Amino acid sequence: MNAIDLKAREYEFTSGDFERVRTLIYEIAGISLSSSKQDMVYSRLARRLRDRGLTRFADYLRLLESNDAEEMQAFTNALTTNLTAFFREAHHFPILADHIAERRRASPEPITIWCCAASTGEEPYTIAMTAIEALNDPSPPVRILATDVDTNVLAKAEAGIYDQERIDALSPERVRRFFLRGTGQRDGLVMVRPELRRLITFQQINLLDNQWPVRGPLDVIMCRNVMIYFDKDTQRQILIKFAPVMRSDGLLFAGHSESFVHSSDLFKLKGKTVYSPLPLARTGAYRTTTGSNRTPTQTQRIPTVTNRSQVTRG
Ligand SMILES: C[S@@+](CC[C@H](N)C(=O)[O-])C[C@H]1O[C@@H](n2cnc3c(N)ncnc32)[C@H](O)[C@@H]1O
Repeated sequence: MNAIDLKAREYEFTSGDFERVRTLIYEIAGISLSSSKQDMVYSRLARRLRDRGLTRFADYLRLLESNDAEEMQAFTNALTTNLTAFFREAHHFPILADHIAERRRASPEPITIWCCAASTGEEPYTIAMTAIEALNDPSPPVRILATDVDTNVLAKAEAGIYDQERIDALSPERVRRFFLRGTGQRDGLVMVRPELRRLITFQQINLLDNQWPVRGPLDVIMCRNVMIYFDKDTQRQILIKFAPVMRSDGLLFAGHSESFVHSSDLFKLKGKTVYSPLPLARTGAYRTTTGSNRTPTQTQRIPTVTNRSQVTRG
């Protein structure tokens, strides 16, 4: 037994249990957990054991390995990291605004944007704000697909209700234009205005799946701060699948600590963490080499968390 086994904990959690968790979350969502994450895994999953009335991780893992789809989703939701913010990595949004305006000038077709790790919604709503501002149109011809593997965060995103502090850094003009303030029992909460909500479709998509229900050609893919959880090979498999669904002049935005230089045959660096697909990659000439028998994630219903009508006043 090593140190992890000896720690005083409510539930028995051995290093063998940790390894099984590691394997499972890698297979399900591509998330690579380093061995330093044992405490994190314990604290995030202990609640699942409590909810299921179990006392040992070994029993919980047996339950998961019996293909209990609902628990599998709860397990995935528990192990994702969902940190996000409105206008996070703000330098991307003027680039996005210019791109949207340019596309609009070039073609009357709707502009299509996939936000593929949308978390609790701040990022897709930021994209919607950027589009409205860029085109100076409250109903711009822009379609945003906001997806994530985690159904809990998608439910929160879909509700579009946030603590007031989440928008403290936004300009008063943006707050007025894009949010409604809660009153009474909802004091301290804000809700995104329907103009933003209307532009977005929320859906569960696992980036690891072989096939995505995404119709191209896309003008933009926002894939920020999620590849960091994947190993290089998984990143490359995803990039191989991104390129063919993008327009030749489409843009791929990555997070501040993510780099795709390892796949410079697929994507060209255009600016700080902004890429565009290379012609050969767009033809689908590259084939994914792993996960060939993965079936698409069974889409889980996104749970409803809060009633939007409870936050009312502008
Ligand atoms: C740190 S958040 C990033 C949120 C947002 N993109 C941003 O930059 O602020 C990472 C998100 O990736 C999602 N994620 C992790 N693995 C995923 C997968 N295999 N498919 C889709 N989304 C995944 C997580 O659920 C989480 O919401």
